[in-house]
Amino acid sequence: MNTKVWKVDKYVDNLVNNPQVVDAAHFLRENEVVALPTETVYGLGGNAESDEAVAKIFAAKGRPSDNPLIIHIADREQLLRFVAEVPAKAEILMDAFWPGPLTVIFKKKEGVLSEKATAGLATVAVRMPDHPVALALLKVCGLPIAAPSANSSGKPSPTNAVHVMDDLNGKIAGVLDGGATGVGVESTVVDCTESVPVILRPGGVTKEQLEAVIGEVRVDPALTDEAAKPKAPGMKYRHYAPNAPLYMVSGTREFLQGLVEEKRQEGLQVGVLTTVENVEFYHADVVFACGRRAELETVATALYDTLRRFNETDVDIIYSEVFSSTGVGHAIMNRLQKAAGNKLITE
Ligand code: TXA
Ligand code: MG
Repeated sequence: MNTKVWKVDKYVDNLVNNPQVVDAAHFLRENEVVALPTETVYGLGGNAESDEAVAKIFAAKGRPSDNPLIIHIADREQLLRFVAEVPAKAEILMDAFWPGPLTVIFKKKEGVLSEKATAGLATVAVRMPDHPVALALLKVCGLPIAAPSANSSGKPSPTNAVHVMDDLNGKIAGVLDGGATGVGVESTVVDCTESVPVILRPGGVTKEQLEAVIGEVRVDPALTDEAAKPKAPGMKYRHYAPNAPLYMVSGTREFLQGLVEEKRQEGLQVGVLTTVENVEFYHADVVFACGRRAELETVATALYDTLRRFNETDVDIIYSEVFSSTGVGHAIMNRLQKAAGNKLITE
């Protein structure tokens, strides 16, 4: 399959009449799959009401069929077509954070969406992305669009169109290239089917921000307890992994540098994932600065691109600094833990 690349400037007016957006929407209406930019990561979109389109999403990514997709919408009225009830707290969250990096889980209305999209569950995950190109595409095609991150399953999520093409060229109808995404980590997934909402996946909206508008919010125990079964099926899979084994290192930079030297003496090529503040400190084969530690949002923005850049080097092993788990650090550490398969070295 020849994968089209449609370049779109997200700042131009009247994106709903943009020929690239209109062409991409046409493919979606034909039940083809198209990658699209969002404010978090690129998504791989397909008609959520079509088994045919949804099957193409799973096939292109190599995604396990028990892992349900997030349904993307451009306006709130679309919700009522496929959601059975909208709890009061969900209403408040949507008012506060949509469009934006928050996915809300509702009880599903049966018989509207493809069963494959929801992996046969009684619930459905929904979000309204805060990206002008995504919103224009959703409006023009007029369909609810199922869209997981547009990477091959297991790889870091894509934050630009080159990442998408690296993984999916030849496997999808096209990619709308709207430039680099901003937030860099995926949306926060919140289950609103229980009286106290539960975070199933930390993401772009922090627990603190959620609690500021709805009060108490719980965190799925599986996020901290490896033995517990996660409520978001996708959270049980290893993800985001670079090719070389990655270790998180908790300790001083001198301690991390010591680990680097040990491995180099064994003849290995060693990579270090750090931030702008410490990049000059380390001596290794490859040292990448992933944003600024003092502004964790910049670490989130750069994380997946940094993990992917290690694959363009010859490193045999990667050591990463760790971050505080507050605010967006919760999502950063969750993704790093997955990328590292939980391997942590403590001083
Ligand atoms: O920021 C994002 O959310 C991106 C962009 C493209 O919108 N999308 C994304 O989708 O990250 P994906 O498929 O990579 O992750 C969706 C997560 C998975 O962990 C999945 O198991 C969970 O949401 N999920 C989806 N539907 C669910 C449901 N009904 N109940 C529990 N978890 C659900
Ligand atoms: Mg994903």
